[in-house]
Amino acid sequence: VCYILILDLRNLRAIAAVTKHAAREIRVTCGGASAVSQSLHKADLRHVDRMLSLLSHSAGLVLHAPLHGNAVAAQRSSAPQMAGPRPVQIIPSVLPADWANMGAECKRLEDAGVDRIQFDVMDGNFVPNLTFGPELIAACRKYTKVMFETQLMVSNYNCETMLDQYTEATKGPNGEPGVVIAHVEANVHLHRTLTKIREAGGSPSVALNPHTPAEMIENVLDLVDHVLVMTVNPGFGGQAYIPTMVDKIRKIRKWGDDRGLDFDIEVDGGVKADWTIAACAEAGANCFIAGSGMFKYDDLSVGCKELRTIAEAAQKGKVLKEGQTIKDL
Ligand code: DX5
Repeated sequence: VCYILILDLRNLRAIAAVTKHAAREIRVTCGGASAVSQSLHKADLRHVDRMLSLLSHSAGLVLHAPLHGNAVAAQRSSAPQMAGPRPVQIIPSVLPADWANMGAECKRLEDAGVDRIQFDVMDGNFVPNLTFGPELIAACRKYTKVMFETQLMVSNYNCETMLDQYTEATKGPNGEPGVVIAHVEANVHLHRTLTKIREAGGSPSVALNPHTPAEMIENVLDLVDHVLVMTVNPGFGGQAYIPTMVDKIRKIRKWGDDRGLDFDIEVDGGVKADWTIAACAEAGANCFIAGSGMFKYDDLSVGCKELRTIAEAAQKGKVLKEGQTIKDL
């Protein structure tokens, strides 16, 4: 077994060439030190994953999970060629939080064990509701080390003119790429918007409203780290989950798997610790945004745990049905 500690990506090619003949397995880890992990941004990881995957296939090597940097793991859920389901990530929306204490609420969510925190940006144009701008997101940064995610439910004008500010505000505590979600319906030049998010140091994601066919984002799947399939019409929390979205989830997941593309699928809207999260997980989603479904718990760690348990069970074939509860697992 050959162990590689990635200290400098430029040497990886040489190391990989050597191991191609010398090793039966490649187990590549990225040092836990944030200095190392934060230098491995998405582009490098994509490059490394692809190269190791080619190496593993050509040399018949067994490839284990390539990279586990702190920040890297926060923005990536698993290696693209990994067998098995992508790790479940629980991502609360701050919509139902106590806005007068948003920083403390972010800390409360961190202590509950969430994977990311989603800020629902609404401008009263793309959706009827109005929430907050980049300043509020940036103000929360000092209260938590958890990675952020910003969903831009805003007009095309707002998305284009404020993109850098939102991307900057969403970054991690050491400047790591935060997830910035652009809606396909709000971006005439979506390909450019997603490219600009990556260039500005963000992790690009594309969102589709319930009526929007999956085909609308088929040609940008190579640019994104996440696809967000909305399971409600955006604008408000506490709405009813739309069950017909599972077909769209399944279709997009198949595209990703068939084409060897490395992106997670997120769902957002009406997702609870019940049959709703199970149905989405079974269909291929692995990132779950929950607002009311999370904040209904007095102890948020219980909510986070129940959401994760049901989603992971569904990935393994134990899919909760309508009317069942976690006790039925
Ligand atoms: C819709 C919002 C909500 C929120 C989650 O625009 O994006 O989906 O995140 O709300 P719940 O989980 O309460 O449906």
